[in-house]
Amino acid sequence: MVSAKGLYYKDENTKKLTTIDPREKPIALQLFGSDPEIMGEVVEKYINPREDIDIIDINMGCPAPKIVKNGDGSALMKNPNLVREILREVVRASNKPVTLKIRMGWDVDSINGIEIGKIAEEEGIAALTIHGRTRDMFYSGEADWEYIKRAKESLNIPIIGNGGDIFKPTDIIRMMEYTNCDGVAIGRGAMGNPWIFKGTIPSSDENRYGHKAFRLIM
Ligand SMILES: Cc1cc2nc3c(=O)[nH]c(=O)nc-3n(C[C@H](O)[C@H](O)[C@H](O)COP(=O)(O)O)c2cc1C
Repeated sequence: MVSAKGLYYKDENTKKLTTIDPREKPIALQLFGSDPEIMGEVVEKYINPREDIDIIDINMGCPAPKIVKNGDGSALMKNPNLVREILREVVRASNKPVTLKIRMGWDVDSINGIEIGKIAEEEGIAALTIHGRTRDMFYSGEADWEYIKRAKESLNIPIIGNGGDIFKPTDIIRMMEYTNCDGVAIGRGAMGNPWIFKGTIPSSDENRYGHKAFRLIM
């Protein structure tokens, strides 16, 4: 997750954050920001020429106060018109697939993740990751898998489910079975256990798109 403004103003520390080791590929660089023009220009000038970056992911899920106070991260979910402008500009500028990460909404009274997902679909976003919490939940409380399921039913682009005690490969299968999502994003379950991904290598002899596609190693 790097700042579009940081790249725009050629901040050295921000640039350093985009260093990629070839062993990490394929890789998505996640951008945060809320100025469509700055984001588009950064994509054209900085990200398009970078052959080591495969995907651009846009962050509209971060709950951190220092991010939302500038109108970035999950604060964008309060402004669907600006969301559309940002997505349109980044998709137009990018020569790589653009994906989006969101939460269910800002708070329980403004749950609009599916509405934002529809905008994403209309603007050519390639896949949508939904963290099944609102911004005001931060990382606590239960993630709502029912909402992820509804998003999968309501949208046509691939849905990547996120949140809710994913700590072992069988949890991934549980989420895929419950929500019918196309993929699962793992955050805290990978901290201290990066091998969780190795436990979920798609099996070559099964349908690689179904949940049966995972060979359990653990
Ligand atoms: C230490 C930490 C750093 C995170 N950094 C990012 C980030 O840079 N970009 C992002 O989209 N989400 C970030 N997240 C959120 C996770 O991607 C994920 O949405 C959230 O932790 C819920 O999933 P989990 O239950 O698997 O952890 C971060 C979470 C934690 C705990």
